[in-house]
Amino acid sequence: MTLPRIYFGADCDPEFILKKQITVIGYGSQGRAFALNLRDSGCNVQVALRENSASRQQVLSERLPLRSMAAVAKSDIVIFAIPDHEQPDFYRSHFPSEDRGNRVLVFLHGLNIHFGNIVPNPGYDVVLLAPHGPGKDLRDNYVQGKGMSCFLAVAQDVSGRALKAGLSLAAAIGADKAGIYETTFEQETLGDLFGEQTLLVGGLAGLTMAVFQTMIENGIPPENAYLETVHQLRMLASMIEEHGPAGMIEHVSKTAAYGSLESMQTLFNQQFGDKLQEIFGGIKAGEFNKRLMADAAKGFPVLKQLLKAAHEDQCQLTAAKFSRNKDES
Ligand SMILES: NC(=O)c1ccc[n+]([C@@H]2O[C@H](COP(=O)([O-])OP(=O)(O)OC[C@H]3O[C@@H](n4cnc5c(N)ncnc54)[C@H](OP(=O)(O)O)[C@@H]3O)[C@@H](O)[C@H]2O)c1
Repeated sequence: MTLPRIYFGADCDPEFILKKQITVIGYGSQGRAFALNLRDSGCNVQVALRENSASRQQVLSERLPLRSMAAVAKSDIVIFAIPDHEQPDFYRSHFPSEDRGNRVLVFLHGLNIHFGNIVPNPGYDVVLLAPHGPGKDLRDNYVQGKGMSCFLAVAQDVSGRALKAGLSLAAAIGADKAGIYETTFEQETLGDLFGEQTLLVGGLAGLTMAVFQTMIENGIPPENAYLETVHQLRMLASMIEEHGPAGMIEHVSKTAAYGSLESMQTLFNQQFGDKLQEIFGGIKAGEFNKRLMADAAKGFPVLKQLLKAAHEDQCQLTAAKFSRNKDES
Protein backbone atom coordinates (compact mmCIF):
# COMPACT_ATOMS: atom_id res chain seq x y z
CA MET A 1 0.00 0.00 0.00
CA THR A 2 1.38 3.43 -0.92
CA LEU A 3 0.40 6.23 1.40
CA PRO A 4 -0.44 9.58 -0.22
CA ARG A 5 2.35 12.12 -0.26
CA ILE A 6 2.33 14.20 2.92
CA TYR A 7 3.86 17.68 2.93
CA PHE A 8 5.12 19.50 6.01
CA GLY A 9 6.61 22.92 6.74
CA ALA A 10 9.90 22.30 4.91
CA ASP A 11 7.93 21.69 1.65
CA CYS A 12 6.08 25.03 1.83
CA ASP A 13 7.18 28.53 0.93
CA PRO A 14 5.21 30.83 3.25
CA GLU A 15 6.50 33.93 1.39
CA PHE A 16 4.84 32.88 -1.88
CA ILE A 17 1.41 34.27 -0.99
CA LEU A 18 2.43 37.13 1.30
CA LYS A 19 2.15 39.84 -1.38
CA LYS A 20 -1.02 38.46 -2.93
CA GLN A 21 -4.49 39.82 -2.27
CA ILE A 22 -6.52 37.03 -0.71
CA THR A 23 -10.30 37.20 -0.34
CA VAL A 24 -12.25 34.79 1.85
CA ILE A 25 -15.90 34.64 0.79
CA GLY A 26 -18.12 33.97 3.79
CA TYR A 27 -17.48 34.11 7.52
CA GLY A 28 -19.04 30.89 8.77
CA SER A 29 -17.35 27.79 10.16
CA GLN A 30 -14.37 27.63 7.76
CA GLY A 31 -14.38 31.26 6.54
CA ARG A 32 -13.68 32.71 9.97
CA ALA A 33 -10.90 30.20 10.71
CA PHE A 34 -9.25 30.71 7.30
CA ALA A 35 -9.43 34.51 7.52
CA LEU A 36 -8.05 34.74 11.07
CA ASN A 37 -5.29 32.15 10.52
CA LEU A 38 -4.20 33.80 7.25
CA ARG A 39 -4.18 37.23 8.90
CA ASP A 40 -2.15 35.97 11.86
CA SER A 41 0.32 34.37 9.41
CA GLY A 42 0.97 37.82 7.89
CA CYS A 43 -1.15 37.46 4.74
CA ASN A 44 -3.00 40.28 3.02
CA VAL A 45 -6.48 38.91 3.59
CA GLN A 46 -9.94 40.44 3.36
CA VAL A 47 -13.43 39.04 3.87
CA ALA A 48 -16.29 39.48 1.41
CA LEU A 49 -19.87 39.24 2.65
CA ARG A 50 -23.36 39.93 1.36
CA GLU A 51 -24.81 43.38 2.12
CA ASN A 52 -27.22 42.05 4.75
CA SER A 53 -24.91 39.42 6.26
CA ALA A 54 -25.33 38.79 9.97
CA SER A 55 -21.54 38.35 10.28
CA ARG A 56 -20.55 41.92 9.27
CA GLN A 57 -20.13 43.16 12.84
CA GLN A 58 -18.10 40.10 13.87
CA VAL A 59 -15.69 40.54 10.95
CA LEU A 60 -15.09 44.16 11.89
CA SER A 61 -14.76 43.44 15.61
CA GLU A 62 -12.16 40.76 14.79
CA ARG A 63 -10.16 43.43 12.94
CA LEU A 64 -10.46 42.04 9.44
CA PRO A 65 -10.98 44.21 6.35
CA LEU A 66 -14.51 43.78 5.04
CA ARG A 67 -15.14 44.14 1.30
CA SER A 68 -18.14 44.08 -0.94
CA MET A 69 -18.66 41.14 -3.27
CA ALA A 70 -17.48 43.32 -6.17
CA ALA A 71 -13.92 43.03 -4.78
CA VAL A 72 -13.95 39.26 -5.08
CA ALA A 73 -13.24 38.90 -8.77
CA LYS A 74 -10.27 41.29 -8.56
CA SER A 75 -8.38 39.21 -5.99
CA ASP A 76 -5.31 37.08 -6.69
CA ILE A 77 -6.60 34.27 -4.50
CA VAL A 78 -10.30 33.62 -3.80
CA ILE A 79 -11.32 31.18 -1.08
CA PHE A 80 -14.83 29.73 -1.38
CA ALA A 81 -15.99 29.49 2.25
CA ILE A 82 -19.74 29.56 1.59
CA PRO A 83 -22.03 26.50 1.54
CA ASP A 84 -21.46 24.17 -1.40
CA HIS A 85 -24.96 24.56 -2.84
CA GLU A 86 -24.54 28.39 -2.94
CA GLN A 87 -21.24 28.31 -4.80
CA PRO A 88 -22.36 27.65 -8.42
CA ASP A 89 -24.66 30.72 -8.60
CA PHE A 90 -22.09 32.77 -6.74
CA TYR A 91 -19.39 31.79 -9.24
CA ARG A 92 -21.60 32.59 -12.25
CA SER A 93 -22.50 36.02 -10.81
CA HIS A 94 -18.98 37.13 -9.91
CA PHE A 95 -16.56 35.58 -12.37
CA PRO A 96 -17.32 36.61 -15.97
CA SER A 97 -16.09 34.14 -18.55
CA GLU A 98 -14.08 36.91 -20.29
CA ASP A 99 -12.00 37.54 -17.13
CA ARG A 100 -8.32 37.07 -17.98
CA GLY A 101 -6.93 37.57 -14.45
CA ASN A 102 -4.33 35.14 -13.11
CA ARG A 103 -6.35 33.99 -10.15
CA VAL A 104 -6.22 31.03 -7.82
CA LEU A 105 -9.65 29.70 -6.86
CA VAL A 106 -9.53 27.71 -3.64
CA PHE A 107 -12.28 25.24 -2.75
CA LEU A 108 -12.60 23.63 0.67
CA HIS A 109 -14.52 20.62 -0.70
CA GLY A 110 -14.23 19.15 -4.19
CA LEU A 111 -17.92 18.60 -5.00
CA ASN A 112 -18.67 21.57 -7.27
CA ILE A 113 -15.57 21.16 -9.40
CA HIS A 114 -15.66 17.37 -9.55
CA PHE A 115 -19.30 17.18 -10.63
CA GLY A 116 -19.07 20.17 -12.95
CA ASN A 117 -21.50 22.42 -11.04
CA ILE A 118 -18.80 25.04 -11.54
CA VAL A 119 -16.74 25.05 -14.72
CA PRO A 120 -13.92 27.44 -13.88
CA ASN A 121 -12.48 29.89 -16.34
CA PRO A 122 -9.63 28.03 -18.14
CA GLY A 123 -7.22 30.82 -17.15
CA TYR A 124 -7.55 30.20 -13.41
CA ASP A 125 -5.57 27.90 -11.15
CA VAL A 126 -7.96 25.73 -9.17
CA VAL A 127 -6.92 24.25 -5.85
CA LEU A 128 -8.59 22.17 -3.13
CA LEU A 129 -7.63 22.82 0.47
CA ALA A 130 -9.89 20.78 2.74
CA PRO A 131 -9.19 20.86 6.48
CA HIS A 132 -9.83 17.59 8.35
CA GLY A 133 -12.29 19.11 10.82
CA PRO A 134 -14.63 21.99 11.62
CA GLY A 135 -13.52 25.61 11.45
CA LYS A 136 -13.56 26.06 15.22
CA ASP A 137 -10.94 23.34 15.64
CA LEU A 138 -8.92 24.70 12.69
CA ARG A 139 -8.71 28.05 14.48
CA ASP A 140 -8.13 26.59 17.98
CA ASN A 141 -5.37 24.28 16.72
CA TYR A 142 -3.68 27.20 14.97
CA VAL A 143 -3.78 29.33 18.13
CA GLN A 144 -2.36 26.41 20.13
CA GLY A 145 0.45 26.07 17.58
CA LYS A 146 -0.32 22.47 16.59
CA GLY A 147 -2.31 23.00 13.37
CA MET A 148 -4.86 20.73 11.70
CA SER A 149 -4.08 18.39 8.81
CA CYS A 150 -5.78 18.92 5.45
CA PHE A 151 -6.15 17.54 1.94
CA LEU A 152 -4.56 19.38 -0.97
CA ALA A 153 -5.31 18.85 -4.67
CA VAL A 154 -4.90 20.74 -7.91
CA ALA A 155 -7.53 20.64 -10.67
CA GLN A 156 -6.13 23.35 -12.97
CA ASP A 157 -2.54 24.55 -13.04
CA VAL A 158 -2.32 27.31 -15.63
CA SER A 159 0.48 29.21 -13.89
CA GLY A 160 2.57 26.12 -13.19
CA ARG A 161 2.57 27.24 -9.55
CA ALA A 162 -0.82 26.06 -8.31
CA LEU A 163 0.70 23.44 -6.01
CA LYS A 164 3.13 26.02 -4.63
CA ALA A 165 0.24 28.40 -3.91
CA GLY A 166 -1.76 25.59 -2.28
CA LEU A 167 1.17 24.56 -0.06
CA SER A 168 1.80 28.16 0.92
CA LEU A 169 -1.87 28.65 1.85
CA ALA A 170 -1.95 25.36 3.73
CA ALA A 171 1.06 26.49 5.77
CA ALA A 172 -0.61 29.83 6.49
CA ILE A 173 -3.68 28.12 7.98
CA GLY A 174 -1.35 25.96 10.11
CA ALA A 175 -1.74 22.63 8.27
CA ASP A 176 2.02 22.32 7.66
CA LYS A 177 2.47 21.34 11.31
CA ALA A 178 -0.03 18.46 11.15
CA GLY A 179 0.38 17.26 7.55
CA ILE A 180 -0.85 18.30 4.12
CA TYR A 181 -2.11 15.15 2.38
CA GLU A 182 -1.99 15.16 -1.41
CA THR A 183 -5.16 13.93 -3.10
CA THR A 184 -7.35 14.58 -6.15
CA PHE A 185 -10.67 16.43 -6.36
CA GLU A 186 -12.33 13.14 -7.24
CA GLN A 187 -10.93 11.18 -4.30
CA GLU A 188 -11.67 13.92 -1.78
CA THR A 189 -15.22 14.37 -3.07
CA LEU A 190 -16.16 10.69 -3.16
CA GLY A 191 -14.39 9.84 0.10
CA ASP A 192 -15.83 12.80 1.97
CA LEU A 193 -19.42 12.27 0.80
CA PHE A 194 -19.40 8.50 1.32
CA GLY A 195 -17.63 8.73 4.70
CA GLU A 196 -20.04 11.29 6.10
CA GLN A 197 -23.17 9.66 4.70
CA THR A 198 -22.50 6.11 5.82
CA LEU A 199 -20.35 6.46 8.93
CA LEU A 200 -19.51 9.84 10.42
CA VAL A 201 -22.92 11.49 10.15
CA GLY A 202 -25.54 9.18 8.61
CA GLY A 203 -24.11 5.91 9.92
CA LEU A 204 -23.51 7.12 13.45
CA ALA A 205 -26.85 8.91 13.79
CA GLY A 206 -28.82 6.14 12.03
CA LEU A 207 -27.28 3.25 13.96
CA THR A 208 -27.67 5.12 17.25
CA MET A 209 -31.37 5.71 16.57
CA ALA A 210 -32.01 2.14 15.37
CA VAL A 211 -30.28 0.57 18.39
CA PHE A 212 -32.08 2.95 20.75
CA GLN A 213 -35.46 2.10 19.21
CA THR A 214 -34.86 -1.64 19.59
CA MET A 215 -34.03 -1.18 23.27
CA ILE A 216 -37.21 0.82 23.88
CA GLU A 217 -39.33 -1.77 22.06
CA ASN A 218 -37.87 -4.38 24.41
CA GLY A 219 -38.79 -2.51 27.58
CA ILE A 220 -35.52 -0.74 28.37
CA PRO A 221 -36.32 2.75 29.75
CA PRO A 222 -35.22 5.59 27.41
CA GLU A 223 -32.86 7.03 30.04
CA ASN A 224 -31.08 3.66 30.40
CA ALA A 225 -30.95 3.28 26.62
CA TYR A 226 -29.36 6.71 26.35
CA LEU A 227 -26.71 5.93 28.97
CA GLU A 228 -25.89 2.63 27.24
CA THR A 229 -25.46 4.28 23.82
CA VAL A 230 -25.04 8.01 23.17
CA HIS A 231 -23.43 8.67 26.55
CA GLN A 232 -20.46 6.37 25.76
CA LEU A 233 -19.90 7.16 22.09
CA ARG A 234 -17.16 9.76 22.53
CA MET A 235 -14.96 7.45 24.63
CA LEU A 236 -15.19 4.57 22.14
CA ALA A 237 -14.67 6.85 19.11
CA SER A 238 -11.46 8.16 20.63
CA MET A 239 -10.33 4.56 21.30
CA ILE A 240 -10.88 3.74 17.60
CA GLU A 241 -8.85 6.81 16.66
CA GLU A 242 -6.04 5.73 18.95
CA HIS A 243 -6.01 1.95 18.42
CA GLY A 244 -8.04 1.24 15.23
CA PRO A 245 -11.34 -0.73 15.19
CA ALA A 246 -9.87 -4.11 16.21
CA GLY A 247 -7.61 -2.41 18.76
CA MET A 248 -10.65 -0.77 20.34
CA ILE A 249 -12.40 -4.15 20.61
CA GLU A 250 -9.31 -5.56 22.31
CA HIS A 251 -9.44 -2.80 24.90
CA VAL A 252 -13.00 -3.55 26.07
CA SER A 253 -14.09 -6.50 28.26
CA LYS A 254 -14.08 -10.06 26.89
CA THR A 255 -17.89 -10.03 27.19
CA ALA A 256 -18.16 -6.92 25.02
CA ALA A 257 -15.55 -8.16 22.55
CA TYR A 258 -17.09 -11.62 22.08
CA GLY A 259 -20.64 -10.32 21.67
CA SER A 260 -19.60 -7.47 19.40
CA LEU A 261 -17.56 -9.61 17.01
CA GLU A 262 -20.46 -12.07 16.74
CA SER A 263 -23.02 -9.31 16.13
CA MET A 264 -20.79 -7.66 13.52
CA GLN A 265 -21.01 -10.82 11.45
CA THR A 266 -24.81 -10.79 11.60
CA LEU A 267 -25.26 -7.08 10.96
CA PHE A 268 -22.58 -6.31 8.43
CA ASN A 269 -23.26 -9.14 6.01
CA GLN A 270 -23.21 -9.32 2.21
CA GLN A 271 -26.54 -7.49 1.97
CA PHE A 272 -25.17 -4.61 4.01
CA GLY A 273 -22.03 -4.53 1.83
CA ASP A 274 -24.26 -4.40 -1.25
CA LYS A 275 -26.14 -1.43 0.22
CA LEU A 276 -22.88 0.40 0.84
CA GLN A 277 -21.80 -0.28 -2.75
CA GLU A 278 -25.15 1.06 -3.97
CA ILE A 279 -24.69 4.30 -2.02
CA PHE A 280 -21.10 4.69 -3.22
CA GLY A 281 -22.23 4.00 -6.78
CA GLY A 282 -24.94 6.68 -6.56
CA ILE A 283 -22.45 9.24 -5.27
CA LYS A 284 -19.88 8.34 -7.93
CA ALA A 285 -22.42 8.53 -10.76
CA GLY A 286 -23.38 12.06 -9.67
CA GLU A 287 -26.91 11.07 -8.63
CA PHE A 288 -26.48 12.38 -5.09
CA ASN A 289 -25.07 15.67 -6.41
CA LYS A 290 -28.13 16.07 -8.68
CA ARG A 291 -30.58 15.40 -5.82
CA LEU A 292 -28.71 17.78 -3.49
CA MET A 293 -28.65 20.64 -5.99
CA ALA A 294 -32.30 20.08 -7.01
CA ASP A 295 -33.46 20.17 -3.36
CA ALA A 296 -31.29 23.26 -2.67
CA ALA A 297 -32.85 25.06 -5.66
CA LYS A 298 -36.31 24.57 -4.10
CA GLY A 299 -35.25 25.73 -0.62
CA PHE A 300 -34.46 22.22 0.71
CA PRO A 301 -38.01 20.79 1.21
CA VAL A 302 -36.69 17.20 1.37
CA LEU A 303 -33.90 18.08 3.80
CA LYS A 304 -36.35 19.95 6.05
CA GLN A 305 -38.83 17.06 6.09
CA LEU A 306 -36.15 14.46 6.90
CA LEU A 307 -34.67 16.66 9.62
CA LYS A 308 -38.11 17.18 11.19
CA ALA A 309 -38.62 13.40 11.35
CA ALA A 310 -35.16 12.95 12.91
CA HIS A 311 -36.00 15.52 15.59
CA GLU A 312 -39.14 13.54 16.49
CA ASP A 313 -37.14 10.34 17.02
CA GLN A 314 -37.21 8.88 20.57
CA CYS A 315 -33.43 8.95 20.89
CA GLN A 316 -33.28 12.62 19.91
CA LEU A 317 -36.07 13.50 22.39
CA THR A 318 -34.18 11.71 25.17
CA ALA A 319 -30.89 13.36 24.20
CA ALA A 320 -32.61 16.76 24.35
CA LYS A 321 -33.90 15.93 27.85
CA PHE A 322 -30.40 15.00 29.04
CA SER A 323 -28.95 18.14 27.53
CA ARG A 324 -31.65 20.32 29.25
CA ASN A 325 -30.97 18.63 32.62
CA LYS A 326 -27.23 19.27 32.21
CA ASP A 327 -27.87 22.97 31.44
CA GLU A 328 -30.14 23.36 34.47
CA SER A 329 -27.82 21.61 36.95
N1 LIG B 1 -18.02 23.10 8.19
C1 LIG B 1 -17.06 22.17 8.15
O1 LIG B 1 -16.75 21.50 9.15
C2 LIG B 1 -16.27 21.91 6.86
C3 LIG B 1 -15.15 21.08 6.88
C4 LIG B 1 -14.38 20.94 5.72
C5 LIG B 1 -14.77 21.59 4.56
N2 LIG B 1 -15.90 22.37 4.55
C6 LIG B 1 -16.27 23.08 3.32
O2 LIG B 1 -16.07 24.47 3.55
C7 LIG B 1 -16.94 25.23 2.72
C8 LIG B 1 -17.70 26.21 3.58
O3 LIG B 1 -18.49 25.49 4.49
P1 LIG B 1 -18.89 26.09 5.91
O4 LIG B 1 -19.55 24.97 6.67
O5 LIG B 1 -17.73 26.81 6.51
O6 LIG B 1 -19.99 27.16 5.44
P2 LIG B 1 -21.01 27.95 6.34
O7 LIG B 1 -20.51 28.07 7.75
O8 LIG B 1 -22.39 27.42 6.17
O9 LIG B 1 -20.94 29.39 5.61
C9 LIG B 1 -21.67 30.43 6.09
C10 LIG B 1 -21.15 31.71 5.46
O10 LIG B 1 -21.43 31.73 4.05
C11 LIG B 1 -22.09 32.95 3.73
N3 LIG B 1 -22.99 32.75 2.60
C12 LIG B 1 -23.97 31.81 2.49
N4 LIG B 1 -24.55 31.89 1.29
C13 LIG B 1 -23.94 32.91 0.64
C14 LIG B 1 -24.12 33.49 -0.66
N5 LIG B 1 -25.01 33.02 -1.51
N6 LIG B 1 -23.34 34.54 -0.99
C15 LIG B 1 -22.42 35.02 -0.13
N7 LIG B 1 -22.21 34.52 1.10
C16 LIG B 1 -22.96 33.47 1.47
C17 LIG B 1 -22.83 33.31 5.01
O11 LIG B 1 -23.09 34.66 4.97
P3 LIG B 1 -24.49 35.30 5.46
O12 LIG B 1 -24.21 35.80 6.84
O13 LIG B 1 -24.71 36.39 4.46
O14 LIG B 1 -25.54 34.24 5.41
C18 LIG B 1 -21.81 32.93 6.08
O15 LIG B 1 -20.85 33.96 6.24
C19 LIG B 1 -17.84 24.21 2.01
O16 LIG B 1 -17.29 23.94 0.74
C20 LIG B 1 -17.73 22.96 2.91
O17 LIG B 1 -17.99 21.76 2.21
C21 LIG B 1 -16.65 22.56 5.68
